[in-house]
Amino acid sequence: MREKSIELLNKSIAEEMSALNQYMFFHFHCDDQDYSLLSALFKKVAIEEMIHVENLADRILFLKGEIVMEASQKVKQITDVKGMLQFAIDSEEEAIIDYNNWAIECSKNADSVTKSLFESLVVDEERHYGIFDSEMDKLKKFGDQYLALQSIEGSKALGQV
Ligand SMILES: [Fe+2]
Ligand SMILES: [Fe+2]
Repeated sequence: MREKSIELLNKSIAEEMSALNQYMFFHFHCDDQDYSLLSALFKKVAIEEMIHVENLADRILFLKGEIVMEASQKVKQITDVKGMLQFAIDSEEEAIIDYNNWAIECSKNADSVTKSLFESLVVDEERHYGIFDSEMDKLKKFGDQYLALQSIEGSKALGQV
């Protein structure tokens, strides 16, 4: 039971680290383009992915495994907002599928605590999916006005408007 769980937990850490790196990259670029609201959103979700890494690592150590801190993918150089949101939506969807499957696998291996951990991650990833999906809906609906509003809100926050 332990070895399979440790393998799945390390695979999850690799996915989470990829998401974390990619969302921070998006955060930097949104910031650079003055899209403050989206910039803050990517940072907030990136921090949640980092907490996922922590929870997964804690479980690996409890099972007496070793943590492999390597991202599964390199950061993609996506700098347009639509591309960023599409990437985030696809990543969250993949995570939801993987964690659901891995929860079932842990259940088969009689590791109910790791199963619960994966289930709790599914709850968070579904929430992330919902956040990015609703931003994408707004972008499709309002187009450039959506991006302009992002920028104006940023200026307001800085007390410039
Ligand atoms: Fe996550
Ligand atoms: Fe996520």
